[in-house]
Amino acid sequence: MRILVLGAGGREHALLKAMRGAQSGESHELHAAPGNAGIAQLATCHELSVTDAKAVVELAESLAPDLVVIGPEAPLVAGVSDALRAAGVAVFGPSAEAAKIEGSKAFAKDVMRAAGVATARAQRIEPAAGSSAQGPGDGADVAARVDRVLDAFGPHFVVKDDGLAGGKGVVVTDSRAQAADHARAVLAAGNPVLVEEFLAGPEVSLFCLVDGEEVVPLIPAQDHKRAFDGDHGPNTGGMGAYSPLPWLPEGAVERIVAEVCRPVARELARRGTPYSGLLYAGLVWGEAGPAVIEFNARFGDPETQNVLALLQTPLAEVLRAVATGHLADLPALEWESGSAVTVVLAAPGYPGAPRKGGAITGIPQDTAQAYVLHSGTARDPEGRLVAAGGRVLSVVGKGADFAAARRAAYEVVERIGLEGSFYRRDIGKAMAQMEQ
Ligand code: AMP
Ligand code: GLY
Repeated sequence: MRILVLGAGGREHALLKAMRGAQSGESHELHAAPGNAGIAQLATCHELSVTDAKAVVELAESLAPDLVVIGPEAPLVAGVSDALRAAGVAVFGPSAEAAKIEGSKAFAKDVMRAAGVATARAQRIEPAAGSSAQGPGDGADVAARVDRVLDAFGPHFVVKDDGLAGGKGVVVTDSRAQAADHARAVLAAGNPVLVEEFLAGPEVSLFCLVDGEEVVPLIPAQDHKRAFDGDHGPNTGGMGAYSPLPWLPEGAVERIVAEVCRPVARELARRGTPYSGLLYAGLVWGEAGPAVIEFNARFGDPETQNVLALLQTPLAEVLRAVATGHLADLPALEWESGSAVTVVLAAPGYPGAPRKGGAITGIPQDTAQAYVLHSGTARDPEGRLVAAGGRVLSVVGKGADFAAARRAAYEVVERIGLEGSFYRRDIGKAMAQMEQ
């Protein structure tokens, strides 16, 4: 197959690695746009803006791929999959209408209400008329409303910038003052604020392949969202992940599919906007079972790096089956039985203002147990590998158990040089302790 992947991160590097076809004996011709320095080692990279539907269609028309896979949410929300489908291209990724499950929190809550899916209660507060990035307008009423809503939802506070913030506009805190400050700052910037009920319990990321009403789950993962060890520091796009989740009760994945993912797929089909692609349910596993924090319309990062590490079935066939409406015909997915751990190496300053351009050294050759995927890298004019994003590398380790997977990943992370960079040392640590 000739395959084009849109995107430039660790997720896309993982997708391409899993689609190489090396294990299955096939050889696929891989292209990426725009890709990064790591992706360039296994695919031909094409420079373009992934949200520019016209440019993407032109590239697809010139390459005539058997499959286009859309990695990030921005092109999905911008309708790039619709433009590709209209041009007759087989594309993995939902329509703009269906991608609203990620792009609009109000739409997602409405779908969940109609489908009877458990989720956090939420209230939206609009900025005062006249407020802008230059400062708040006449905000006395709005300030009073913030106070009322926070009082109604406390004592744990969840305050979100109600846009596509990649998890970075979210503050979860027990401090009412910090919650109110964040709400005020978001409103002062002219954005609406979402205040949510705090959902207590461990988090689960469950990715499902969805083709209309057909739903096939991948193995679950847990992301580590906070920047620093022990879940301290600001929320990030994700600093690491582990799979599977040994603490989940028997039958939990089937319950999430039955109570969350399938009802949502059915509701979208009922509305005449069936979902085709990857539906990512971000959940809390609470006392009563699963409750949704959010949906994403795409593979998650860094969970994808981790989940695909254990997938044995060749990925290209799987994604093409979804793209062509044949998910129901696909044989059951096969998985390795061990554990996987992914550790993200971040540039200094991430998630605030990461410093780019630092030279990266010490990346070893891939082995079956440990390999490095590139998240934000580029080549400088001299051809040296440099940091080009907040999250720079994703190091994947595999093993018979979590202790072995962690050893494999951290042995590699520790050898990599990037001035001022940091990583969490506790990815999957609690799981390894449980094994003792
Ligand atoms: P989001 O961008 O909505 O995924 O939020 C980022 C992170 O904040 C999530 O992964 C959770 O760790 C946390 N979070 C968001 N909403 C809630 C909630 N309602 N209850 C508890 N934690 C939450
Ligand atoms: N790991 C979180 C995300 O991809 O949104």
